Amino acid sequence: MSRIVPARQRLIFALDVSTAREAHAWIERLGDSVAFYKIGLELLTSGDYFRVLDYLAEQDKRIFVDLKFHDVPATVGHAVRGLARFPVDFCTIHGQQPAMMRAAAEAAGAAGAMKILAVTVLTSMDAGDLSADGITRSPAEQVLTRAQAAQAAGCHGVIASGQEAASLRAARGKDFLIVCPGIRPNGPGGDDQKRTVGVAAAFANGADYIVVGRPIRQAADPRLAADALVDEIEAAVPAA
Ligand code: C5P
Repeated sequence: MSRIVPARQRLIFALDVSTAREAHAWIERLGDSVAFYKIGLELLTSGDYFRVLDYLAEQDKRIFVDLKFHDVPATVGHAVRGLARFPVDFCTIHGQQPAMMRAAAEAAGAAGAMKILAVTVLTSMDAGDLSADGITRSPAEQVLTRAQAAQAAGCHGVIASGQEAASLRAARGKDFLIVCPGIRPNGPGGDDQKRTVGVAAAFANGADYIVVGRPIRQAADPRLAADALVDEIEAAVPAA
């Protein structure tokens, strides 16, 4: 990982709002400070999902569709193929069921440049949540296991916590994308995220991109907060 991707593009803002109107207001408010947007389930149920996607594309923003597909392989493959008609950079699927991951990766490969990222273990989950699901591995072991399967299936990268980024980078090599949500610049926020890290730690551990929502949305000056995160990324990413 090096500075081939500019620091500003390594910050992905989670546009977790429920109306197109709010989405447009955020995009305008953040201006040039944010270059990459993640649009997820909250916007999907607004009914205006693709209107917001088109608007982001018109503004020359990079786009991450975070709908975390998880279904039988044929359905996911067809959904990915459909999505690849839009100017989307990243698309998430759940990091389970190798045949489904393979179907998604093949559909993306056949259709264009969209990259498939497999969600390993949600950053809102800890060991207790895994064991409630009958999984006895630690979150770190489970992330590594799922990442190995995702890479073998042809996925371009994973979503994981910054806590696992170093072992992921070591195990999966330099070209496998590692995208980290659960970023808390000022320490754990007392919210639903459990496996959190700061910006410098995420990149020191090998992250390629970070996803940040509430620390920007809830800041007194969100644009200033985004700029401060980009400065931190600039300082943390090793020079090429
Ligand atoms: O507000 P916050 O910074 O916690 O936002 C994190 C975003 O990343 C949310 O939109 C959430 O859906 C997403 N996400 C996550 N953990 C994953 C995958 C996606 O928190 N494993």
